[in-house]
Amino acid sequence: MNWKTRVHCNTVSEGNLNETIHLNGWVDAVRDHGHLFFIHLRDISGIVQLVFDPTKNKTCYDVGKKLRSEWTVEVKGTVLKRDSESTNPQLETGCFEVEVTEINVLSQSETPPFSISEKDITTEHERNYEVDEELRLKYRYLDLRRPSMKNNMIQRHKIVKSIHNFLDAKQFFNIETPMLTKSTPEGARDYLVPSRVHKTKFYALPQSPQLYKQMIMMSGLERYYQIVKCFRDEDLRPNRQPEFTQVDIEASFIDESFIFELLEGLISEVFKTQGMKASGPFPRITYDEAMNSYGSDKPDIRFDMKMVDMTETFKGVGYKIFNQIVESGGRIKGINIPGQAGNLGKNLLQNEFAKKLIPKMGGKGMTWMKVEGGKLNSNIVQFFNDDYQQKMISSLDGKDGDVLIFIADTNPDLVNDVLGKFRLFIAERQGLIDTTKNGLCWITEFPLFEMKDGNLSSMHHPFTMPDKRFMDIDINDKEAFLKVKSRGYDLVLNGEEIGGGSIRIHDTKMQNKLFEVLGLSENEIEEKFGFFVNALKYGAPPHGGLAIGLDRLVSILLETNSIRDVIAFPKNRAAGCPLTQSPDSVKQSQLAELSIQTIDEEESISN
Ligand code: AMO
Repeated sequence: MNWKTRVHCNTVSEGNLNETIHLNGWVDAVRDHGHLFFIHLRDISGIVQLVFDPTKNKTCYDVGKKLRSEWTVEVKGTVLKRDSESTNPQLETGCFEVEVTEINVLSQSETPPFSISEKDITTEHERNYEVDEELRLKYRYLDLRRPSMKNNMIQRHKIVKSIHNFLDAKQFFNIETPMLTKSTPEGARDYLVPSRVHKTKFYALPQSPQLYKQMIMMSGLERYYQIVKCFRDEDLRPNRQPEFTQVDIEASFIDESFIFELLEGLISEVFKTQGMKASGPFPRITYDEAMNSYGSDKPDIRFDMKMVDMTETFKGVGYKIFNQIVESGGRIKGINIPGQAGNLGKNLLQNEFAKKLIPKMGGKGMTWMKVEGGKLNSNIVQFFNDDYQQKMISSLDGKDGDVLIFIADTNPDLVNDVLGKFRLFIAERQGLIDTTKNGLCWITEFPLFEMKDGNLSSMHHPFTMPDKRFMDIDINDKEAFLKVKSRGYDLVLNGEEIGGGSIRIHDTKMQNKLFEVLGLSENEIEEKFGFFVNALKYGAPPHGGLAIGLDRLVSILLETNSIRDVIAFPKNRAAGCPLTQSPDSVKQSQLAELSIQTIDEEESISN
């Protein structure tokens, strides 16, 4: 095999006409014309058509006729121009074909469990087929042979390369941190690794390199980054994997504006790899504003339809339900679905959305009104006099043809949540999202704590710097702590959180107080974070950073259905690998060596 003379399929062009070239690749598709035999030869670069003509070379023709999909071959042949009727505009090399003069079958293939070819050899259409994902994952090496999946891997590589280049140019050092480590509190369950040497002890796989990167700052390395695997044993969703990749960044002697500028530059470079533009500064939206206007801390800002608080507007209104909610201190909010009155019928709005969809989203009901001739029209419009109607229209900037939607509830958070979900749902359903825009924004001023099961818990993680008031608050004053904002920030793209980080605490007293607020005793602090609190004592510089979810970022840019499509060997929805059948049981002797005894499910239930 002379790899030096080999050329790639997609490079065949006018310049090669009548030349003899040497190709390697897979049989993508075959077509038998009786007197002539054609195959599409596919390699990493693309596809070129091979033609076998028995009148020119009978030996090659006879071998060619035996070829089947996914056989691997080496060929030599002459580059010819196709006549105008037989060109294939679907192929970049569609004006040419290679007449085979030598062929060598390198390996045969069994019939693959699904078709790998994505280009039809006879028509101009792209093949469009749905293959069960479990099957794709079981034969991932074949799935990755598909040009679209191969392209996802190549684009991911380009994105990763652009990140390395960008951060290197900004004097960031790529430093590796351990995989066998101690549990870090990012909020999910840990994957544990038993230690053979330290019997009954476990390492934890890192949920993120959070503590290590902060200690790298304490080491004086000043600017760190790492493209790193993280492990979280949490409930899976399409945008979550048990092991995923972060672009993890940390810097010293900086504040939020440094991180924002850095990331705006980085994201702009990443977008360039896909021929897309993103330039900073990205809008900065406070957490409160995001929740109030979009009902979400990861708002999709590619479309407007902001939620408007109408509680004051409805004071004294004749409509009993609204009146009671206003009186009881509840909240009423509205959105305007512009220009959709003709597309959203009464039956849909009332019977499908108000009665079925909204309860599924957690709401009790929904009120809708169409703007017609400067007035409102709906099933309950009689309860709103002209004055109220005009106030409703003007508050939501209503125009003829718009649909106004209101959600009311005694629980203000529920109003935000349900109307926020409906805003997204209806915009997607009615095609109101401008997909040519990139919805990049920063969310800032998160609450430092949230309530979980009656206890204060960190909204990001417990190393996030609080605002100044924090140190003055009495340790038992939960209400006051709930009002404290953090110096944390998230980066959102098209309604998805693609990154998060914060300015960190670099002071031992503050860090200890924060642990205390979280209910950790001195002993627990010492046991879990003693090494870290100790490190803070030796001149820790002010520092901060963030981590980008690489799989999510790539998946959004490549518009794939799930992050699994941009990961070479992902886990399935049940956190397993259909290809290797992991997780799997191990030999008793391996367990014995680790001092581990397993309890099977029946035993554990009966106990
Ligand atoms: P956080 O937990 O917000 O922050 O994670 C950062 C980003 O990682 C991505 N991400 C995930 N992607 C795929 N599957 C998952 N299971 C998953 N979990 C998170 C998200 C998220 O925005 N140590 C902090 C960062 C810091 O403070 O610097 C951290 O890990 O896109």
